[in-house]
Amino acid sequence: MEHEAWRAFLILMITVIILSLFSLSRYLLKLKLWCNCEICDAYLTMSWSKEFDNLCDWYAHLLSKSQSKTIHIHVLGNTITANPDNVEYMLKTRFDNFPKGKSFSMILGDFLGQGIFNVDGDLWRFQKNMASLELDRFSIRFYALEIVNHEIKNRLIPLLSSVAGKEDHGILDLQDVFRRFSFDSMCKFLFGLDPRCLELSLPMSEFAVAFDLASKLSAERAMTVSPMIWKIKRMLNLGSEKQLKEALKIIDILALEVIRQRRKMGISTHKDLLSRFMGTVNDETYLRDIVISFLLAGRDTVASALTGFIWLLAKHPHVCSLIQLEADRIIGQNQELQSFDQLRELNYLQAAVYESMRLYPPIQFDSKFCQEDDLLPDGTFVKKGTRVTYHPYSMGRIMEIWGEDCLEFKPERWLKNGVFFPENPFKYPVFQAGFRVCLGKEMALVEIKSVALSIVRKFQIKLVSANRIPRFSPGLTATLSGGLPVIVQERFTITPIKYSISGHDSKGK
Ligand code: HEM
Repeated sequence: MEHEAWRAFLILMITVIILSLFSLSRYLLKLKLWCNCEICDAYLTMSWSKEFDNLCDWYAHLLSKSQSKTIHIHVLGNTITANPDNVEYMLKTRFDNFPKGKSFSMILGDFLGQGIFNVDGDLWRFQKNMASLELDRFSIRFYALEIVNHEIKNRLIPLLSSVAGKEDHGILDLQDVFRRFSFDSMCKFLFGLDPRCLELSLPMSEFAVAFDLASKLSAERAMTVSPMIWKIKRMLNLGSEKQLKEALKIIDILALEVIRQRRKMGISTHKDLLSRFMGTVNDETYLRDIVISFLLAGRDTVASALTGFIWLLAKHPHVCSLIQLEADRIIGQNQELQSFDQLRELNYLQAAVYESMRLYPPIQFDSKFCQEDDLLPDGTFVKKGTRVTYHPYSMGRIMEIWGEDCLEFKPERWLKNGVFFPENPFKYPVFQAGFRVCLGKEMALVEIKSVALSIVRKFQIKLVSANRIPRFSPGLTATLSGGLPVIVQERFTITPIKYSISGHDSKGK
């Protein structure tokens, strides 16, 4: 009997392997693996890495040299563009022809299910309308500010103070701190639950660890040569797919438990997003998918934005001084931020945050899949099924868009007579643009501005390695490999140097 079972198992395995090889060879044939154009050759041999620290830097170089600002990596079947007209065409004019596509939603499907981040068409429209109704309410901004201020006052500041000025253990990885901060804030905002990741002892949260692992392993699926590889591993419950399954089990149990608790306690008195959604949606799996998608969308992005911003501020102390002077003028010296209106009046701070994400966007690139043959405004023909990627990281480094000083960190380029002036979102698609623009942009800005302000006003941050070149780890969101180790000092002894905000109008177009 046992023998028979083994025989059946072996036959099944052989069939699976034959089918996989067949589908892998079809997949490989579809890709143009033999292309020996200069770009594909550099990609395949990795010779680009002799000259550039990151793949995104090499793409930025190629795109800025290209006349149309569009390039092709034939071996990946990927057309990459940094041309604002193409971006507008994909994200707005021909939005329906450039969905996320099945390849993307299959990769993230086990993790995100039918959540907004992972669906197209009617499922997306329904969730977007419902989410916009909630997130566009003015009251949600006050709620976000309340949560963020609580986390800053009770956790972030005490943590930074506890290490400030201590030679022996004064080094802190701020990237890790920001990830903990945004996980706590997003969980409170989404479910009214506090995982306490940023408490002084920096505890490990089972939920945060499972969540990190699931997003990392889901992103790694995209790096396999063929989707068949991870699908077979999933079917046989092997290696990374086994780990992913276990992480998802923990996420599912905890997420469903939160939903049940919320229902038991009654949802009408709670301000969190889950309670608001529960008024309309009954299906628990769907609710789980919605909140997990929001958590993914809002957690690492904010941490990444803050990491990039503090890194730039540490290298540009005069920008720090200008932020402090503006805060002293609007909020008052040694006074705490009182209201959402005060935050809105900090034009220079807002300009500095935008400028920082121009150079270091949390989502460096975003891909869509072309549904029917199409022609982009720059004359590029796109065949049905092609992956088309717009590349905010490269767009921030293009002279024709931002002027000759495009590589410099200059918040002033966002100011007109001292007032923040936003750019055309298709030139700056950091929050995407068009119909699928980020729904959490306001919440993100509240978080980034409040955290940066509280750090800059109270502490001086020194980079442990000032000359280090940023290197990014592969993943869905820009993450510095090796983190952001810094030395923290209290600022009470330091008086800001008097600079003035020049507020010139040039965006150098
Ligand atoms: C600096 C921080 C942030 C950046 C740079 C950012 C950027 C983006 C980008 C580029 C997209 C499009 C992704 C895609 O379609 O593949 C997106 C979508 C989205 N973001 Fe954000 N995001 C940030 C923070 C947040 C926060 C805090 C929330 C939640 C409160 C949030 C909620 C969402 C949602 C729900 C979507 C999906 C929108 C849709 O598909 O219609 N984001 N974001």
